[in-house]
Amino acid sequence: MNYKIGLIHGDGIGPEIVNEAQKVLDAVCAKYGHSFEYSRLLLGGASIDTTGYPLTDETIAEAKTCDAVLMGSIGGDAKTSPWYQLEPSRRPEAGLLGIRKALNLFANLRPAYLYNELKAACPLRDEIIGDQGFDMIIVRELTGGLYFGERETGMVDGVETARDSLSYNENEIRRIAKRAFDIAMKRRKKVTEVDKANVLDSSRLWRKITAEVAKEYPEVEYENMLVDNCAMQLVRDPKQFDVILTENMFGDILSDEASMVTGSIGMLSSASLNETSFGLYEPSHGSAPDIAGKNIANPIATILSAAMMLRYSLNLDKEADVVEKAVEEVLAQGYRTGDIYSEGTTKVSTTEMGDQIVKILMKL
Ligand code: NAD
Ligand code: IPM
Ligand code: MN
Repeated sequence: MNYKIGLIHGDGIGPEIVNEAQKVLDAVCAKYGHSFEYSRLLLGGASIDTTGYPLTDETIAEAKTCDAVLMGSIGGDAKTSPWYQLEPSRRPEAGLLGIRKALNLFANLRPAYLYNELKAACPLRDEIIGDQGFDMIIVRELTGGLYFGERETGMVDGVETARDSLSYNENEIRRIAKRAFDIAMKRRKKVTEVDKANVLDSSRLWRKITAEVAKEYPEVEYENMLVDNCAMQLVRDPKQFDVILTENMFGDILSDEASMVTGSIGMLSSASLNETSFGLYEPSHGSAPDIAGKNIANPIATILSAAMMLRYSLNLDKEADVVEKAVEEVLAQGYRTGDIYSEGTTKVSTTEMGDQIVKILMKL
């Protein structure tokens, strides 16, 4: 089959990790006789350097012609990069938020899974990890909340003031809740809705609407948890979680925390989806300016994001399985980038990791 895939190389380590994911996609094509046409799209800092803006109408229009978009991360070092001399709406992150909104990518799925082989890289004690490890998915609302609320900066009564606001309506909550429950039905059938309902009105609405949706899924166990408790429970007993359903900002923070208990943020993939089969696939981590250009970044989160793309947008389940198996096998064979390295394993570079995954995939 032929597919058109948008590629956003992005900034920092973005181009390095996207190149490895593209190698893996090319191997999938060779193995299964598909053909992928790639279209390079500009976003974030790279787009500012070329066009002056972090997101252009051209990028949005071209993305809409693709079956899916695979992206590295965008952004730079806020202290040193000239991008952060620009006003906030012209900075790299505004481009990312803009494309999420423009393509209505309200459902952000972030699976956090501890590979057996990575137990040594997990910072939790053995008795917490247990024999089973853990396997959860964070379902993060991505086009509402604080990121997109009314905002204002200026002087109030002679005092410099900044305001962001957090609002949700019932429809925004219902559609993401349905997505989370549908996902739970295919997993261990448990949804933990995470909020701050002891303080925030918006969280109380989340509880009301998600409880209504839960009634439509009687087989799914539904619970509510306050976000501060959830942050603690993620390191106390991550096994208890199956699907975590939460609003935009809480999901951003909790997913970075969940990633670390899988060994490294370099392992956490993500899919940003709308109501169609289209999706934007990107690692959950950032552009890691501190290690950019050194060929040491872990490309696995991006490669696993490419696997999610094969599954969710291209409907290529067998191919997605093979990419995921190749990642499992590369870890079983002891290959590790620096972030997941432990004694007795083999440290490899970004490109070597991609090469090994391709080699294994072709033999599977
Ligand atoms: P970051 O995730 O880029 O880095 C945090 C730490 O994790 C760093 O020490 C980094 O070296 C390490 N790290 C991240 N990815 C890694 C990988 N694949 N392999 C090995 N180590 C890895 O977060 P930050 O430093 O807070 O942000 C840097 C920039 O990235 C900022 O401009 C931020 O806005 C942007 N950002 C972009 C995205 C995205 O594009 N989706 C996500 C998060 C942050
Ligand atoms: C992420 C990132 C983004 C977010 C930033 C870069 C705007 O941290 O994708 O997790 O907060 O959503
Ligand atoms: Mn984040």
